Amino acid sequence: MIVDQYTKVRKRSVDICRPLETEDYVVQPIADVSPPKWHLGHSTWFFETFLLLPHAKGYKAFDPNYNYVFNSYYESVGARVIRTDRGNLSRPTVEDIFRYREHVDEAMQDFLKDGLAPDIEELVILGCNHEEQHQELLLTDIKYILGHNPLFPSYGRDAFQAIAPDLPPAIDPGWTRVPEGIYGIGYKGQGFCFDNELGRHQVYLPAFQISRQTVTNGEYLEFMKSGGYTDFRHWHAEGWDWVRQHQVQAPLYWHPIEGEWMYYSWDGLQYPDWVAPVCHVSYYEASAYASWAGLRLPTEAEWETASEHISWGHRWEWTESAYLPYPGFAKAPGAIGEYNGKFMISQMVLRGASEATPPGHSRNTYRNFFHPSLRWQFTGIRLTK
Ligand SMILES: [Fe+2]
Repeated sequence: MIVDQYTKVRKRSVDICRPLETEDYVVQPIADVSPPKWHLGHSTWFFETFLLLPHAKGYKAFDPNYNYVFNSYYESVGARVIRTDRGNLSRPTVEDIFRYREHVDEAMQDFLKDGLAPDIEELVILGCNHEEQHQELLLTDIKYILGHNPLFPSYGRDAFQAIAPDLPPAIDPGWTRVPEGIYGIGYKGQGFCFDNELGRHQVYLPAFQISRQTVTNGEYLEFMKSGGYTDFRHWHAEGWDWVRQHQVQAPLYWHPIEGEWMYYSWDGLQYPDWVAPVCHVSYYEASAYASWAGLRLPTEAEWETASEHISWGHRWEWTESAYLPYPGFAKAPGAIGEYNGKFMISQMVLRGASEATPPGHSRNTYRNFFHPSLRWQFTGIRLTK
């Protein structure tokens, strides 16, 4: 039942925020990190704007001014607070936003009780998948907010375990061989997928081998110890500029304390788990590590082709592929057409899923994408040869 799917998804966003204090909901330490209360409001606005207002008879907006506050990037839906100002808003309050959620949830539950036309049902499912994407961002941003506070408050391992997906074992040594051939790429099932996965097509791949597990913290430490961050030969020009400009010497959340590395985890500052997959690296770092190891990152077509034979789900994995439309890609008409297509510039594709991805949200055709310098997401490295 679609109403059950809706209710379950909406509840999980609130559950993710349960360990937070009110002040944690409000701040925006960097432009990329949105305040948790903004995510809670924006995912609600999505249902109100694209379903209730145009399609639910007699529905009244909770507050017509919220469109200005919670519109993320939809040019077709009007003006909005600039992204970097999301953390400057003391109103609407956290309490207002929880009331907003209740108002929209009640209306949506009524709306979903009647049979829906197929195109409306599709929009509801998109709204649920959209909210799941924001659940991942909520965890990513909450970690950044707490992990960049000088007191290093903890989210709580138990709190995280309560909402985390069941993951396959992270340790799976060895390589998978994929023979030369022509392979199909892109979504082919009957269920939901994002528009950027469509345009299934064939690609030719020369033979390759792909590592069954992602690079560990211990392996990455070897790269650091052997001067990986000081040898320009492993870096793209843009990556080398980034390292020097920001004086990068380790993944995000690593802190040198009294001669030892510490890592900010769900349980606060801890010694790194050296056999765990390295996390919070930029594309520049992933690519430099691969170069140092005499290997390379997979392309997204290689990753997808090999995906049934490798262990994935712990980290979003940087690929060597630029984020581009598949053959035949078409933007949907109207505001929903702004969902993915307009971001197909200057970003790299990531494949897989992470410990912050809602259970069942990702699939082997899922295309995540970020600018190569970003590493606040739960990103990792897989190698290919
Ligand atoms: Fe969004």
